[in-house]
Amino acid sequence: MAGWNRNFTDELRARLSVVDVVGRVVPLTKKGQNYWGCCPFHNEKTPSFSVNEEKGFYHCFGCGEHGDIISFTMKHNNMDFRAAIQELANMAGVKMPDYKPRDPNIVKREESLFDICEKAAQLYSEKLFTPDGAHALEYVRKRGFDDDMIKKYRIGYAPKNNVIANKFSTSKHLIDSGLCRRGDYGMYDFFRDKLMFPIFNARGNIVAFSGRSLDGSEPKYINTTDTDIFHKRKTVFGLNFARDAIHRANRSIVVEGQIDAIKMQCGGFPETVAPLGTALTEDHIALLCKSNRNIIFCFDGDGAGLKAAQRACSIVLPFLRDTSDVKFAFVTGGKDPDEILKTAGADAMKKIIDDALPLVDFLWQITNNNFLVGTPGGRAQAEKFLKKELDKITDSDLKSEFDKEYNKRKFNSWHRWKRNDSAVQIKLPDIDLVTKNTLVYIVNTYPELAEKYLDFLGTLGVDFGATAPELNLDAGASEKYIVSLKLQRHLAKLNATKKELTNRLLDGDEDAREKIKQIDEDIAKFNEKLEILISI
Ligand code: UTP
Ligand code: MN
Repeated sequence: MAGWNRNFTDELRARLSVVDVVGRVVPLTKKGQNYWGCCPFHNEKTPSFSVNEEKGFYHCFGCGEHGDIISFTMKHNNMDFRAAIQELANMAGVKMPDYKPRDPNIVKREESLFDICEKAAQLYSEKLFTPDGAHALEYVRKRGFDDDMIKKYRIGYAPKNNVIANKFSTSKHLIDSGLCRRGDYGMYDFFRDKLMFPIFNARGNIVAFSGRSLDGSEPKYINTTDTDIFHKRKTVFGLNFARDAIHRANRSIVVEGQIDAIKMQCGGFPETVAPLGTALTEDHIALLCKSNRNIIFCFDGDGAGLKAAQRACSIVLPFLRDTSDVKFAFVTGGKDPDEILKTAGADAMKKIIDDALPLVDFLWQITNNNFLVGTPGGRAQAEKFLKKELDKITDSDLKSEFDKEYNKRKFNSWHRWKRNDSAVQIKLPDIDLVTKNTLVYIVNTYPELAEKYLDFLGTLGVDFGATAPELNLDAGASEKYIVSLKLQRHLAKLNATKKELTNRLLDGDEDAREKIKQIDEDIAKFNEKLEILISI
Protein backbone atom coordinates (compact mmCIF):
# COMPACT_ATOMS: atom_id res chain seq x y z
CA MET A 1 0.00 0.00 0.00
CA ALA A 2 2.86 2.30 0.79
CA GLY A 3 3.99 1.98 -2.79
CA TRP A 4 0.74 3.30 -4.19
CA ASN A 5 0.87 6.66 -5.84
CA ARG A 6 -0.43 8.92 -3.07
CA ASN A 7 -1.55 11.52 -5.58
CA PHE A 8 -4.10 9.17 -7.05
CA THR A 9 -5.72 8.13 -3.79
CA ASP A 10 -5.80 11.80 -2.81
CA GLU A 11 -7.46 12.56 -6.11
CA LEU A 12 -10.13 9.93 -5.45
CA ARG A 13 -10.75 11.34 -1.98
CA ALA A 14 -11.04 14.79 -3.50
CA ARG A 15 -13.41 13.73 -6.25
CA LEU A 16 -15.71 11.43 -4.32
CA SER A 17 -17.76 12.36 -1.31
CA VAL A 18 -17.83 9.69 1.40
CA VAL A 19 -21.57 10.36 1.68
CA ASP A 20 -22.04 9.41 -1.97
CA VAL A 21 -19.86 6.31 -1.75
CA VAL A 22 -21.42 4.98 1.47
CA GLY A 23 -24.87 6.28 0.53
CA ARG A 24 -24.99 3.96 -2.49
CA VAL A 25 -25.28 0.94 -0.21
CA VAL A 26 -26.45 2.36 3.13
CA PRO A 27 -29.50 4.63 3.27
CA LEU A 28 -28.35 7.76 5.09
CA THR A 29 -30.20 10.69 6.60
CA LYS A 30 -28.63 13.92 7.69
CA LYS A 31 -28.95 14.86 11.36
CA GLY A 32 -26.89 17.75 12.58
CA GLN A 33 -23.42 17.74 11.07
CA ASN A 34 -23.37 14.04 10.20
CA TYR A 35 -25.24 11.55 8.09
CA TRP A 36 -26.60 8.48 9.89
CA GLY A 37 -27.59 4.98 8.85
CA CYS A 38 -27.66 1.38 10.03
CA CYS A 39 -24.16 -0.05 10.16
CA PRO A 40 -23.45 -2.44 7.27
CA PHE A 41 -20.74 -4.17 9.30
CA HIS A 42 -22.84 -5.39 12.19
CA ASN A 43 -26.47 -6.22 12.75
CA GLU A 44 -28.51 -3.32 14.09
CA LYS A 45 -31.95 -1.78 13.87
CA THR A 46 -31.27 1.74 15.12
CA PRO A 47 -28.66 3.76 13.27
CA SER A 48 -25.35 4.17 15.05
CA PHE A 49 -23.27 4.48 11.88
CA SER A 50 -22.26 8.07 11.18
CA VAL A 51 -20.67 9.60 8.11
CA ASN A 52 -18.90 12.94 8.11
CA GLU A 53 -18.73 14.41 4.63
CA GLU A 54 -16.37 17.20 5.55
CA LYS A 55 -13.76 14.94 7.11
CA GLY A 56 -14.32 12.12 4.63
CA PHE A 57 -14.74 9.50 7.37
CA TYR A 58 -17.36 7.10 8.65
CA HIS A 59 -17.57 5.77 12.18
CA CYS A 60 -19.83 3.20 13.83
CA PHE A 61 -20.61 3.86 17.47
CA GLY A 62 -21.95 0.31 17.75
CA CYS A 63 -19.04 -1.79 16.54
CA GLY A 64 -16.24 0.76 16.29
CA GLU A 65 -15.71 0.24 12.57
CA HIS A 66 -14.30 3.36 10.91
CA GLY A 67 -12.39 4.57 7.89
CA ASP A 68 -12.61 6.44 4.59
CA ILE A 69 -13.96 5.72 1.09
CA ILE A 70 -11.13 3.30 0.36
CA SER A 71 -11.44 1.20 3.50
CA PHE A 72 -15.23 1.22 3.13
CA THR A 73 -15.06 -0.10 -0.42
CA MET A 74 -12.50 -2.74 0.56
CA LYS A 75 -14.44 -3.96 3.56
CA HIS A 76 -17.93 -3.76 2.15
CA ASN A 77 -17.08 -5.50 -1.13
CA ASN A 78 -14.46 -7.73 0.38
CA MET A 79 -11.90 -6.36 -2.06
CA ASP A 80 -8.19 -5.80 -1.85
CA PHE A 81 -6.79 -2.28 -1.97
CA ARG A 82 -6.12 -2.33 -5.68
CA ALA A 83 -9.60 -3.56 -6.58
CA ALA A 84 -11.18 -0.98 -4.30
CA ILE A 85 -9.19 1.80 -5.96
CA GLN A 86 -10.28 0.52 -9.35
CA GLU A 87 -13.92 0.48 -8.21
CA LEU A 88 -13.68 4.04 -6.90
CA ALA A 89 -11.87 5.21 -10.04
CA ASN A 90 -14.79 3.85 -12.10
CA MET A 91 -17.23 5.60 -9.81
CA ALA A 92 -15.36 8.89 -10.17
CA GLY A 93 -14.98 8.41 -13.92
CA VAL A 94 -11.20 8.73 -13.84
CA LYS A 95 -8.61 6.48 -15.36
CA MET A 96 -6.47 4.55 -12.96
CA PRO A 97 -2.74 5.00 -13.41
CA ASP A 98 -0.63 1.87 -13.63
CA TYR A 99 0.39 0.54 -10.29
CA LYS A 100 4.04 1.18 -9.62
CA PRO A 101 5.85 0.91 -6.33
CA ARG A 102 7.29 4.31 -5.52
CA ASP A 103 10.73 4.52 -7.00
CA PRO A 104 13.13 5.53 -4.22
CA ASN A 105 15.01 7.68 -6.73
CA ILE A 106 11.86 9.62 -7.48
CA VAL A 107 11.15 10.09 -3.80
CA LYS A 108 14.67 11.39 -3.36
CA ARG A 109 14.34 13.76 -6.29
CA GLU A 110 11.08 15.17 -4.93
CA GLU A 111 12.74 15.71 -1.59
CA SER A 112 15.53 17.61 -3.24
CA LEU A 113 13.02 19.68 -5.26
CA PHE A 114 11.32 20.73 -2.03
CA ASP A 115 14.72 21.50 -0.66
CA ILE A 116 15.75 23.68 -3.60
CA CYS A 117 12.49 25.63 -3.44
CA GLU A 118 12.83 26.17 0.29
CA LYS A 119 16.42 27.36 -0.01
CA ALA A 120 15.57 29.57 -2.98
CA ALA A 121 12.77 31.21 -0.96
CA GLN A 122 15.25 31.93 1.82
CA LEU A 123 17.64 33.47 -0.65
CA TYR A 124 14.93 35.60 -2.28
CA SER A 125 13.77 36.79 1.17
CA GLU A 126 17.27 37.94 2.04
CA LYS A 127 17.69 39.69 -1.30
CA LEU A 128 14.56 41.77 -0.76
CA PHE A 129 16.32 43.55 2.09
CA THR A 130 19.63 44.16 0.27
CA PRO A 131 20.39 47.25 -1.85
CA ASP A 132 19.78 45.12 -5.00
CA GLY A 133 16.21 44.61 -3.89
CA ALA A 134 15.51 48.16 -2.72
CA HIS A 135 13.19 48.95 -5.64
CA ALA A 136 11.27 45.70 -5.05
CA LEU A 137 10.88 46.43 -1.35
CA GLU A 138 9.70 49.93 -2.12
CA TYR A 139 7.21 48.54 -4.63
CA VAL A 140 5.80 45.88 -2.35
CA ARG A 141 5.40 48.35 0.51
CA LYS A 142 3.71 50.81 -1.80
CA ARG A 143 1.27 48.06 -2.67
CA GLY A 144 0.30 47.85 0.96
CA PHE A 145 2.32 44.92 2.27
CA ASP A 146 3.69 45.45 5.77
CA ASP A 147 6.63 43.49 7.21
CA ASP A 148 4.38 40.92 8.87
CA MET A 149 2.74 40.13 5.55
CA ILE A 150 6.09 39.96 3.78
CA LYS A 151 7.23 37.48 6.42
CA LYS A 152 4.10 35.36 6.50
CA TYR A 153 3.83 34.98 2.72
CA ARG A 154 7.62 34.84 2.42
CA ILE A 155 7.70 37.46 -0.31
CA GLY A 156 11.15 37.98 -1.79
CA TYR A 157 13.17 39.39 -4.63
CA ALA A 158 14.93 37.54 -7.44
CA PRO A 159 17.92 39.69 -8.48
CA LYS A 160 19.00 40.42 -12.05
CA ASN A 161 21.92 38.00 -11.91
CA ASN A 162 21.85 34.19 -11.77
CA VAL A 163 21.85 33.71 -8.00
CA ILE A 164 20.11 30.34 -8.05
CA ALA A 165 22.18 28.91 -10.89
CA ASN A 166 25.34 29.93 -9.05
CA LYS A 167 24.33 28.76 -5.61
CA PHE A 168 22.96 25.35 -6.63
CA SER A 169 25.33 24.69 -9.53
CA THR A 170 26.13 21.22 -8.17
CA SER A 171 22.52 20.10 -7.75
CA LYS A 172 21.33 17.46 -10.19
CA HIS A 173 17.73 18.63 -9.99
CA LEU A 174 18.08 22.33 -10.60
CA ILE A 175 16.43 22.24 -14.05
CA ASP A 176 13.66 19.95 -12.76
CA SER A 177 12.85 22.51 -10.07
CA GLY A 178 11.86 25.01 -12.75
CA LEU A 179 14.08 27.66 -11.23
CA CYS A 180 16.83 27.45 -13.83
CA ARG A 181 17.12 26.80 -17.55
CA ARG A 182 19.97 25.75 -19.72
CA GLY A 183 21.14 28.28 -22.29
CA ASP A 184 23.98 28.53 -24.78
CA TYR A 185 26.30 29.82 -22.09
CA GLY A 186 25.26 27.50 -19.28
CA MET A 187 22.52 27.64 -16.71
CA TYR A 188 20.58 30.79 -16.10
CA ASP A 189 17.86 31.78 -13.61
CA PHE A 190 14.27 31.68 -14.81
CA PHE A 191 13.22 34.46 -12.43
CA ARG A 192 15.29 37.64 -12.78
CA ASP A 193 14.45 41.05 -11.37
CA LYS A 194 11.08 39.85 -10.12
CA LEU A 195 9.06 40.29 -6.97
CA MET A 196 8.74 36.71 -5.77
CA PHE A 197 5.65 35.05 -4.32
CA PRO A 198 6.28 31.50 -3.13
CA ILE A 199 3.53 29.02 -3.94
CA PHE A 200 2.81 26.56 -1.14
CA ASN A 201 1.24 23.13 -1.38
CA ALA A 202 -1.56 22.09 0.98
CA ARG A 203 0.97 20.98 3.59
CA GLY A 204 2.67 24.36 3.56
CA ASN A 205 5.80 23.39 1.62
CA ILE A 206 7.03 25.73 -1.08
CA VAL A 207 6.65 24.00 -4.45
CA ALA A 208 6.92 26.84 -6.96
CA PHE A 209 7.06 30.61 -7.41
CA SER A 210 5.17 33.37 -9.11
CA GLY A 211 7.28 36.37 -10.09
CA ARG A 212 5.86 39.82 -10.79
CA SER A 213 7.68 42.13 -13.14
CA LEU A 214 8.83 45.36 -11.53
CA ASP A 215 9.65 47.47 -14.57
CA GLY A 216 6.29 47.31 -16.30
CA SER A 217 7.48 44.67 -18.75
CA GLU A 218 5.12 41.97 -20.01
CA PRO A 219 4.08 39.42 -19.04
CA LYS A 220 3.16 40.90 -15.69
CA TYR A 221 3.54 37.56 -13.95
CA ILE A 222 5.60 34.49 -14.75
CA ASN A 223 5.12 31.27 -12.84
CA THR A 224 7.15 28.11 -12.43
CA THR A 225 6.04 25.67 -15.13
CA ASP A 226 4.77 22.30 -13.88
CA THR A 227 7.31 20.13 -12.09
CA ASP A 228 7.19 16.81 -10.24
CA ILE A 229 6.03 18.65 -7.13
CA PHE A 230 3.98 21.46 -8.69
CA HIS A 231 0.89 21.04 -10.83
CA LYS A 232 -0.57 24.41 -11.67
CA ARG A 233 -4.02 23.03 -12.45
CA LYS A 234 -4.21 21.33 -9.07
CA THR A 235 -2.80 24.07 -6.91
CA VAL A 236 -4.98 26.64 -5.22
CA PHE A 237 -3.01 29.67 -4.12
CA GLY A 238 -3.41 30.50 -0.43
CA LEU A 239 -5.21 27.28 0.54
CA ASN A 240 -2.56 26.32 3.07
CA PHE A 241 -3.24 29.56 4.94
CA ALA A 242 -6.99 29.55 4.37
CA ARG A 243 -7.96 25.99 5.25
CA ASP A 244 -8.91 26.55 8.90
CA ALA A 245 -10.72 29.76 8.06
CA ILE A 246 -12.69 27.97 5.34
CA HIS A 247 -13.88 25.47 7.94
CA ARG A 248 -14.72 28.20 10.42
CA ALA A 249 -16.49 30.49 7.94
CA ASN A 250 -18.09 27.44 6.29
CA ARG A 251 -17.31 28.92 2.89
CA SER A 252 -14.46 29.86 0.62
CA ILE A 253 -14.01 32.98 -1.48
CA VAL A 254 -12.22 32.64 -4.82
CA VAL A 255 -10.59 35.73 -6.33
CA GLU A 256 -8.66 36.09 -9.58
CA GLY A 257 -5.15 36.98 -8.50
CA GLN A 258 -2.67 36.05 -5.83
CA ILE A 259 -2.17 39.59 -4.59
CA ASP A 260 -5.94 39.83 -4.21
CA ALA A 261 -5.95 36.58 -2.24
CA ILE A 262 -3.24 37.78 0.14
CA LYS A 263 -4.90 41.17 0.64
CA MET A 264 -8.25 39.53 1.27
CA GLN A 265 -6.76 37.06 3.76
CA CYS A 266 -5.16 39.90 5.67
CA GLY A 267 -8.09 42.29 5.27
CA GLY A 268 -10.81 40.36 7.06
CA PHE A 269 -11.51 37.53 4.62
CA PRO A 270 -9.07 34.78 5.65
CA GLU A 271 -11.12 32.18 3.74
CA THR A 272 -9.95 33.58 0.37
CA VAL A 273 -7.92 31.72 -2.26
CA ALA A 274 -7.06 32.16 -5.96
CA PRO A 275 -6.27 29.95 -8.94
CA LEU A 276 -2.77 30.35 -10.21
CA GLY A 277 -1.85 31.95 -13.51
CA THR A 278 -4.49 29.83 -15.17
CA ALA A 279 -8.24 29.62 -15.49
CA LEU A 280 -10.09 27.76 -12.79
CA THR A 281 -10.10 23.97 -13.19
CA GLU A 282 -12.21 21.06 -11.89
CA ASP A 283 -9.28 20.09 -9.72
CA HIS A 284 -9.30 23.50 -8.02
CA ILE A 285 -13.00 23.15 -7.24
CA ALA A 286 -12.59 19.56 -6.04
CA LEU A 287 -9.91 20.74 -3.62
CA LEU A 288 -12.15 23.47 -2.26
CA CYS A 289 -15.15 21.16 -2.03
CA LYS A 290 -13.20 18.92 0.31
CA SER A 291 -13.75 21.53 3.00
CA ASN A 292 -17.29 22.48 2.07
CA ARG A 293 -19.33 23.22 -1.00
CA ASN A 294 -20.07 26.84 -0.26
CA ILE A 295 -18.07 29.02 -2.61
CA ILE A 296 -18.25 32.69 -3.46
CA PHE A 297 -16.53 33.49 -6.71
CA CYS A 298 -15.44 37.08 -6.56
CA PHE A 299 -14.18 38.18 -9.93
CA ASP A 300 -13.15 41.50 -11.38
CA GLY A 301 -16.00 43.57 -12.79
CA ASP A 302 -14.57 43.59 -16.33
CA GLY A 303 -15.22 41.42 -19.37
CA ALA A 304 -12.49 38.98 -18.40
CA GLY A 305 -13.99 38.65 -14.93
CA LEU A 306 -17.42 37.89 -16.34
CA LYS A 307 -15.92 35.28 -18.63
CA ALA A 308 -14.07 33.70 -15.72
CA ALA A 309 -17.29 33.65 -13.70
CA GLN A 310 -19.18 31.90 -16.51
CA ARG A 311 -16.47 29.31 -16.70
CA ALA A 312 -16.53 28.84 -12.92
CA CYS A 313 -20.30 28.40 -13.03
CA SER A 314 -20.02 25.74 -15.68
CA ILE A 315 -17.28 23.88 -13.81
CA VAL A 316 -18.92 23.98 -10.41
CA LEU A 317 -22.28 22.46 -11.49
CA PRO A 318 -21.24 18.78 -11.08
CA PHE A 319 -20.06 19.55 -7.56
CA LEU A 320 -23.38 20.98 -6.36
CA ARG A 321 -25.32 19.27 -3.58
CA ASP A 322 -28.67 20.26 -2.13
CA THR A 323 -26.77 21.94 0.70
CA SER A 324 -24.32 23.83 -1.53
CA ASP A 325 -24.36 27.58 -1.56
CA VAL A 326 -22.48 28.89 -4.58
CA LYS A 327 -22.55 32.59 -5.43
CA PHE A 328 -21.01 35.08 -7.80
CA ALA A 329 -19.82 38.49 -6.71
CA PHE A 330 -18.53 41.15 -9.05
CA VAL A 331 -16.14 43.87 -8.10
CA THR A 332 -17.54 47.25 -9.05
CA GLY A 333 -16.20 50.64 -8.11
CA GLY A 334 -12.64 49.40 -8.52
CA LYS A 335 -10.52 47.07 -10.55
CA ASP A 336 -10.10 44.13 -8.19
CA PRO A 337 -10.45 43.18 -4.48
CA ASP A 338 -6.97 44.56 -3.77
CA GLU A 339 -8.02 47.98 -5.04
CA ILE A 340 -11.39 47.91 -3.24
CA LEU A 341 -9.75 47.06 0.08
CA LYS A 342 -7.19 49.79 -0.42
CA THR A 343 -9.45 52.59 -1.57
CA ALA A 344 -12.85 51.76 -0.05
CA GLY A 345 -12.03 49.41 2.83
CA ALA A 346 -13.23 46.10 4.19
CA ASP A 347 -16.86 47.23 4.59
CA ALA A 348 -17.13 48.00 0.88
CA MET A 349 -15.64 44.60 0.14
CA LYS A 350 -18.07 42.95 2.55
CA LYS A 351 -20.96 44.58 0.72
CA ILE A 352 -19.73 43.20 -2.59
CA ILE A 353 -19.53 39.73 -1.06
CA ASP A 354 -22.93 40.05 0.65
CA ASP A 355 -24.54 41.15 -2.62
CA ALA A 356 -23.26 38.09 -4.48
CA LEU A 357 -25.74 36.51 -6.88
CA PRO A 358 -26.83 32.91 -6.14
CA LEU A 359 -25.81 30.46 -8.87
CA VAL A 360 -29.41 29.89 -9.96
CA ASP A 361 -29.78 33.61 -10.68
CA PHE A 362 -26.35 34.00 -12.25
CA LEU A 363 -26.95 31.14 -14.67
CA TRP A 364 -30.32 32.66 -15.59
CA GLN A 365 -28.67 36.03 -16.10
CA ILE A 366 -25.98 34.73 -18.43
CA THR A 367 -28.55 32.70 -20.37
CA ASN A 368 -30.59 35.85 -20.96
CA ASN A 369 -27.57 38.02 -21.71
CA ASN A 370 -25.84 35.64 -24.10
CA PHE A 371 -28.80 34.97 -26.37
CA LEU A 372 -31.51 37.07 -28.01
CA VAL A 373 -34.33 35.58 -25.98
CA GLY A 374 -36.78 38.02 -27.57
CA THR A 375 -36.62 35.94 -30.75
CA PRO A 376 -37.60 32.28 -31.32
CA GLY A 377 -34.11 31.45 -32.61
CA GLY A 378 -32.46 33.08 -29.62
CA ARG A 379 -34.76 31.23 -27.26
CA ALA A 380 -33.96 27.93 -28.95
CA GLN A 381 -30.24 28.61 -28.51
CA ALA A 382 -30.77 29.66 -24.92
CA GLU A 383 -32.76 26.47 -24.24
CA LYS A 384 -29.93 24.37 -25.63
CA PHE A 385 -27.35 26.20 -23.57
CA LEU A 386 -29.38 25.91 -20.38
CA LYS A 387 -30.04 22.23 -20.93
CA LYS A 388 -26.36 21.54 -21.56
CA GLU A 389 -25.42 23.32 -18.36
CA LEU A 390 -28.11 21.70 -16.19
CA ASP A 391 -27.19 18.25 -17.47
CA LYS A 392 -23.90 18.72 -15.63
CA ILE A 393 -25.65 18.58 -12.26
CA THR A 394 -25.01 15.08 -10.96
CA ASP A 395 -27.42 15.16 -8.02
CA SER A 396 -30.64 14.12 -9.79
CA ASP A 397 -33.08 15.55 -7.23
CA LEU A 398 -31.27 18.84 -7.38
CA LYS A 399 -31.30 18.77 -11.16
CA SER A 400 -35.04 18.27 -11.26
CA GLU A 401 -35.52 21.23 -8.90
CA PHE A 402 -33.36 23.38 -11.18
CA ASP A 403 -35.41 22.23 -14.19
CA LYS A 404 -38.65 23.24 -12.49
CA GLU A 405 -37.24 26.56 -11.43
CA TYR A 406 -36.12 27.45 -14.92
CA ASN A 407 -39.39 26.28 -16.48
CA LYS A 408 -41.15 28.80 -14.25
CA ARG A 409 -38.75 31.50 -15.26
CA LYS A 410 -39.09 30.73 -18.95
CA PHE A 411 -42.86 31.05 -18.76
CA ASN A 412 -42.80 34.17 -16.69
CA SER A 413 -40.29 36.08 -18.72
CA TRP A 414 -39.71 34.62 -22.17
CA HIS A 415 -43.35 34.02 -22.99
CA ARG A 416 -45.02 36.87 -21.19
CA TRP A 417 -44.71 39.16 -24.20
CA LYS A 418 -47.13 37.00 -26.16
CA ARG A 419 -49.93 37.84 -23.76
CA ASN A 420 -49.70 41.52 -24.52
CA ASP A 421 -49.14 41.96 -28.21
CA SER A 422 -51.45 39.23 -29.44
CA ALA A 423 -52.51 39.97 -33.00
CA VAL A 424 -56.02 38.76 -32.25
CA GLN A 425 -58.23 41.56 -31.04
CA ILE A 426 -60.65 39.23 -29.33
CA LYS A 427 -60.08 39.08 -25.60
CA LEU A 428 -60.70 35.71 -24.04
CA PRO A 429 -61.88 35.49 -20.44
CA ASP A 430 -59.18 35.16 -17.79
CA ILE A 431 -58.32 31.72 -16.52
CA ASP A 432 -60.33 30.90 -13.37
CA LEU A 433 -58.65 29.93 -10.10
CA VAL A 434 -59.27 26.19 -10.33
CA THR A 435 -57.87 26.02 -13.85
CA LYS A 436 -54.94 28.15 -12.80
CA ASN A 437 -54.08 25.89 -9.85
CA THR A 438 -54.35 22.82 -12.04
CA LEU A 439 -52.01 24.31 -14.62
CA VAL A 440 -49.45 25.43 -12.04
CA TYR A 441 -49.49 21.92 -10.62
CA ILE A 442 -49.06 20.33 -14.06
CA VAL A 443 -46.25 22.63 -15.18
CA ASN A 444 -44.28 22.03 -12.00
CA THR A 445 -44.91 18.30 -11.86
CA TYR A 446 -44.43 17.41 -15.51
CA PRO A 447 -41.71 19.64 -16.97
CA GLU A 448 -41.83 17.63 -20.22
CA LEU A 449 -45.47 18.72 -20.73
CA ALA A 450 -44.55 22.27 -19.89
CA GLU A 451 -41.92 22.05 -22.58
CA LYS A 452 -44.26 20.51 -25.16
CA TYR A 453 -47.06 23.07 -24.68
CA LEU A 454 -44.77 25.99 -23.92
CA ASP A 455 -46.23 28.31 -26.55
CA PHE A 456 -49.85 27.73 -25.62
CA LEU A 457 -49.26 27.93 -21.87
CA GLY A 458 -47.34 31.15 -22.34
CA THR A 459 -50.46 32.89 -23.72
CA LEU A 460 -52.62 32.23 -20.66
CA GLY A 461 -51.36 34.97 -18.35
CA VAL A 462 -50.80 32.49 -15.53
CA ASP A 463 -48.02 33.03 -12.97
CA PHE A 464 -46.41 29.62 -12.99
CA GLY A 465 -44.18 30.63 -10.12
CA ALA A 466 -47.19 30.50 -7.77
CA THR A 467 -47.65 27.55 -5.44
CA ALA A 468 -50.37 25.07 -6.26
CA PRO A 469 -52.12 22.46 -4.10
CA GLU A 470 -51.00 18.84 -4.58
CA LEU A 471 -53.34 17.21 -7.09
CA ASN A 472 -53.79 13.66 -8.14
CA LEU A 473 -53.27 13.91 -11.90
CA ASP A 474 -51.01 11.58 -13.83
CA ALA A 475 -49.09 12.68 -16.91
CA GLY A 476 -51.71 11.32 -19.33
CA ALA A 477 -54.62 13.06 -17.62
CA SER A 478 -52.54 16.22 -17.38
CA GLU A 479 -51.83 16.26 -21.09
CA LYS A 480 -55.52 15.68 -21.83
CA TYR A 481 -56.32 18.59 -19.55
CA ILE A 482 -53.99 20.92 -21.42
CA VAL A 483 -55.18 19.82 -24.87
CA SER A 484 -58.85 20.14 -23.96
CA LEU A 485 -58.21 23.58 -22.49
CA LYS A 486 -56.46 24.51 -25.70
CA LEU A 487 -59.42 23.34 -27.78
CA GLN A 488 -61.89 25.15 -25.52
CA ARG A 489 -59.94 28.36 -25.75
CA HIS A 490 -59.78 28.01 -29.50
CA LEU A 491 -63.52 27.41 -29.69
CA ALA A 492 -64.19 30.43 -27.52
CA LYS A 493 -62.10 32.49 -29.88
CA LEU A 494 -63.96 31.18 -32.93
CA ASN A 495 -67.33 31.90 -31.31
CA ALA A 496 -66.29 35.42 -30.43
CA THR A 497 -65.09 35.98 -33.98
CA LYS A 498 -68.38 34.63 -35.32
CA LYS A 499 -70.30 37.09 -33.15
CA GLU A 500 -68.16 39.95 -34.43
CA LEU A 501 -68.74 38.86 -38.04
CA THR A 502 -72.49 38.47 -37.46
CA ASN A 503 -72.63 42.07 -36.26
CA ARG A 504 -70.83 43.15 -39.41
CA LEU A 505 -73.28 41.16 -41.56
CA LEU A 506 -76.19 42.91 -39.83
CA ASP A 507 -74.45 46.19 -40.66
CA GLY A 508 -74.59 45.17 -44.31
CA ASP A 509 -71.08 43.74 -44.79
CA GLU A 510 -71.84 40.92 -47.24
CA ASP A 511 -68.24 39.64 -47.20
CA ALA A 512 -68.85 38.50 -43.65
CA ARG A 513 -71.37 35.86 -44.83
CA GLU A 514 -68.70 33.66 -46.45
CA LYS A 515 -66.39 34.05 -43.45
CA ILE A 516 -69.12 33.00 -41.04
CA LYS A 517 -69.67 29.85 -43.11
CA GLN A 518 -66.00 28.95 -42.80
CA ILE A 519 -65.98 29.65 -39.10
CA ASP A 520 -69.04 27.43 -38.60
CA GLU A 521 -67.13 24.60 -40.26
CA ASP A 522 -64.15 25.23 -38.00
CA ILE A 523 -66.37 25.30 -34.94
CA ALA A 524 -67.91 21.97 -35.89
CA LYS A 525 -64.48 20.48 -36.47
CA PHE A 526 -63.08 21.60 -33.13
CA ASN A 527 -66.24 20.55 -31.27
CA GLU A 528 -65.82 17.09 -32.72
CA LYS A 529 -62.15 16.99 -31.63
CA LEU A 530 -63.10 18.05 -28.15
CA GLU A 531 -65.79 15.38 -27.91
CA ILE A 532 -63.37 12.68 -29.02
CA LEU A 533 -60.81 13.84 -26.50
CA ILE A 534 -63.28 13.86 -23.64
CA SER A 535 -64.66 10.44 -24.54
CA ILE A 536 -61.26 8.66 -24.42
P1 UTP B 1 -4.52 40.45 -13.21
O1 UTP B 1 -4.08 40.99 -14.52
O2 UTP B 1 -5.89 40.75 -12.72
O3 UTP B 1 -3.42 40.89 -12.19
O4 UTP B 1 -4.31 38.88 -13.27
P2 UTP B 1 -3.49 41.32 -10.67
O5 UTP B 1 -3.62 40.13 -9.80
O6 UTP B 1 -4.45 42.44 -10.48
O7 UTP B 1 -2.01 41.82 -10.52
P3 UTP B 1 -1.49 43.18 -9.96
O8 UTP B 1 -2.45 43.60 -8.89
O9 UTP B 1 -1.43 44.13 -11.11
O10 UTP B 1 -0.13 42.84 -9.45
C1 UTP B 1 -4.87 38.00 -12.34
C2 UTP B 1 -3.98 36.80 -12.16
O11 UTP B 1 -3.69 36.17 -13.41
C3 UTP B 1 -2.37 35.66 -13.42
C4 UTP B 1 -1.79 35.94 -12.05
O12 UTP B 1 -1.99 34.80 -11.23
C5 UTP B 1 -2.62 37.11 -11.58
O13 UTP B 1 -2.64 37.21 -10.18
N1 UTP B 1 -1.53 36.30 -14.45
C6 UTP B 1 -1.82 37.55 -14.88
C7 UTP B 1 -0.48 35.62 -14.96
O14 UTP B 1 -0.21 34.46 -14.58
N2 UTP B 1 0.31 36.22 -15.90
C8 UTP B 1 0.07 37.47 -16.33
O15 UTP B 1 0.82 37.97 -17.17
C9 UTP B 1 -1.02 38.15 -15.82
MN1 MN C 1 -4.53 43.84 -8.96
